[in-house]
Amino acid sequence: MIARGETGVPGDKSVTHRALLLGALAAGPCRFTRPLASLDTRATAAALRALGVKVGPLVEGRAVVVRGLGLRPPPFHAPRGALHCRNSGTTARLLLGLLAAHPFEARLTGDRSLRRRPMARVTEPLRAMGAAIEASEGERLPLVVRGGPLVPLAWRSPVASAQVKTALLLAGVAGGVRVAVTEPVASRDHTERLLRLLGVRVEVQDTTTAVEPPETLPAFEGEIPGDISSAAYLVAAGLLATSGELVVHGVGVNPTRTGFLRAVARMGGKVEESGRFFSLGEAAASLVARPARLKAIEVAPEEIPSMVDEIPLLACLAARAEGRSVFRGVGELRVKESDRLALVAANLAALGVAAHTEGDTLMVEGTDAPPAGRVTTAGDHRLAMAFAVLGTVPGAAVELDDRGCVAVSYPGFFRDLARVLHAS
Ligand code: S3P
Repeated sequence: MIARGETGVPGDKSVTHRALLLGALAAGPCRFTRPLASLDTRATAAALRALGVKVGPLVEGRAVVVRGLGLRPPPFHAPRGALHCRNSGTTARLLLGLLAAHPFEARLTGDRSLRRRPMARVTEPLRAMGAAIEASEGERLPLVVRGGPLVPLAWRSPVASAQVKTALLLAGVAGGVRVAVTEPVASRDHTERLLRLLGVRVEVQDTTTAVEPPETLPAFEGEIPGDISSAAYLVAAGLLATSGELVVHGVGVNPTRTGFLRAVARMGGKVEESGRFFSLGEAAASLVARPARLKAIEVAPEEIPSMVDEIPLLACLAARAEGRSVFRGVGELRVKESDRLALVAANLAALGVAAHTEGDTLMVEGTDAPPAGRVTTAGDHRLAMAFAVLGTVPGAAVELDDRGCVAVSYPGFFRDLARVLHAS
């Protein structure tokens, strides 16, 4: 394949969720350009509407307006039915945080994938703040939350998770109490950046983040940077191409998210950054990717949070690299939209690549042989996109059991891939 052409990518998923949720608490209308319009962010928008917030339609290429209701007292109305978070863990966990401060009962549910994902990591600390949360199927969705007055919290999270950290910080902001969260390794910091932009005091020391609750949040607006987690697939396709170069514009390059680019550089791939701009407290840039001969990589557990969603893709790049790659400390992949750890290894093996797991470590042996076989995505968008990229190498015959699931985070993925990759 020849890499040639330029494209943008949809808005960052994490930043879009946060902009919608904080916008709902702001003191007036907020307008965001280039939001991500996907199944996940629509789940957040729909939940906010069910809680009495006016949120405009999320449509690709259109700005979205959120009519903020103000922060005090906690502004949401009791929803009539269950809040359906669909496939979106971010929607479920962040909403739980906000609902913990609201004095009514709400029921949260999700699709089959989300109903198997662990929620104790947020329900435990939210209970410690004073929220009543009932679970009928272990600490998983569906959950019923009844919030109310909260007490301050200092919490040590056993997992490095921005969803956990953000859920607790949002509970503190909505509930008017100080919250401090300590993580084993610092996770993505989009929430902290947005809060600071809105004048909120955020203190960070090592891996502890503390937020002083504000009395109000001003209305705000801005452009959502492109999602590095989506851009990564196109960049990887450029690295695997036989010649040419491709450009992805307007990609968020927050250092807590760019572990993929650092890993690729160590593998021998050169991705250039140009034309930096800043928006909503985030840096963004154009990324230029060219074909490269890749070599194997060893990734340490401390690096994982900065590339957590890109591990399946890095594993696919490792399948084309010279030598044996080792990814340590990737246990969290088991509780993502699918058991990504098991499925990455099994799918690579199904395509003729030697890959296996040992505890929380994933090992991939690079090969020049063209990958061929059928990939089981289990409806997981990131598996579909990672293996679609692996399927672009010369001679490959990779078949996905589901292409539609990319709509969870990147509905235009196949169109954009075709825009920058051409048959040789
Ligand atoms: C997200 C955090 C990550 C990531 C998810 C989005 C967020 O999850 O996998 O896609 O927006 O906070 P964890 O922080 O739980 O690892």
